[in-house]
Amino acid sequence: MRDVAVIGIGLTKFGELWDQSFRQLTAEAGSKAILDSGVGGKDIDAMYVGSMSSGRFVGQEHVGALVADASGFSHLHIPSTRVEGACASGSLALREGYLSIASGVNDVVVIGGIEKMNDVGGSAATETLATAADQEWEAFFGVTFPGLYAMIAKRHMHEFKTTREDLARVAVKNHHNGTMNPFAQYQKEISIDTALNATPVAEPLGLMDCSPVTDGAAAVVLCAADRIGDFSGKPVKIIGSGQASDTLSLHGRRDITTLDASVHAGKMAYKQAHLKPSDINLAEVHDCFTIAEICAIEDLGFVKKGEGGKAVENKITTIDGSLPVNTSGGLKSKGHPVGATGVAQIVEITKQLRGEADKRQIKDARIGLAHNVGGSGATCVVNILEGM
Ligand code: COA
Repeated sequence: MRDVAVIGIGLTKFGELWDQSFRQLTAEAGSKAILDSGVGGKDIDAMYVGSMSSGRFVGQEHVGALVADASGFSHLHIPSTRVEGACASGSLALREGYLSIASGVNDVVVIGGIEKMNDVGGSAATETLATAADQEWEAFFGVTFPGLYAMIAKRHMHEFKTTREDLARVAVKNHHNGTMNPFAQYQKEISIDTALNATPVAEPLGLMDCSPVTDGAAAVVLCAADRIGDFSGKPVKIIGSGQASDTLSLHGRRDITTLDASVHAGKMAYKQAHLKPSDINLAEVHDCFTIAEICAIEDLGFVKKGEGGKAVENKITTIDGSLPVNTSGGLKSKGHPVGATGVAQIVEITKQLRGEADKRQIKDARIGLAHNVGGSGATCVVNILEGM
């Protein structure tokens, strides 16, 4: 397998972007990443685009071709493929591009992630997101994503004495990190009391335990490591990549407080990188709900099973803790445009490893991990990156 590096990154502002179209968002993120990398259109061998549900959110399918067109590349006839795996669509696109370079088929690949979720109303967004659950066994009976993660939270609280305060601390931390990220949807501090007293969504989760409904796009340029000298982009190497699947429905799992797909994808990535969890300097994990961050730090081996809540209380995961988690603000505060999220996580890790994360920069960060989940854990992708 050939080594692969990220040599360009691009991000739009995340939020309610009423004055920008799906096409404009993808073109903005893509052109920023391409400019940052120093590649020209003729250097690009392929494009992969992650989008979960563009058909339902904006009435647009055939997104692979649309993105190549919107980027001004239709005349170059670059192969462009849309990849879907619910909220992990962006990471799956990245992994497809990574594998195509590692295998020797391509040298330079552009990865995009895009979702424009606010053009439909709140209940239509909830219904669309629920298509990532099991239609027959879950969504048909009315369960929503907040509802599924509320069940995980309840069980975690029951088994490990995790508290609502532990959940609230995740939200407070990620909102704090978001204040230092100009691209984040929410750039405001919240207190524990605000989180605890927020509007109930699905017991025990309140508004501040949930990621929001977000518009946004992200893009990265990947390059074979033996060709990075041909381009001006500052490289960060992908040293481990893992992907795993699990039952689509939550009730099929052996234990709903563990996302086995995260455990397996993490092990695969650590093995390839020849690293262990304690070697990671910072992580972007999939905090679609506060409980999801607590489960993720356990599933990825950063803390023992059941000790995620305590780790947050002990400030291990804060920006000045021993393992900063979600320095970007995470899905909670940066926002969660589902198809874009996995690519945006790579943008944040790359910024950190290049020393370009401004006020939220982690000193001497060398190894970063990105963890992206589809649905309630039926798909998971973990990537480990190293600064060069
Ligand atoms: N966190 C913090 N604030 C939020 C928020 C969130 N998740 N969602 C909305 N808000 C704020 C809005 O900015 C708005 O503030 P304002 O009154 O100052 O303008 C206010 O709350 C009401 O916003 P609104 O859009 O009416 O909220 P809503 O009730 O329609 O939606 C949720 C709230 C929690 C239902 C929605 O954000 C949601 O569905 N989140 C989960 C998304 C999801 O499932 N993603 C997939 C994960 S696997």
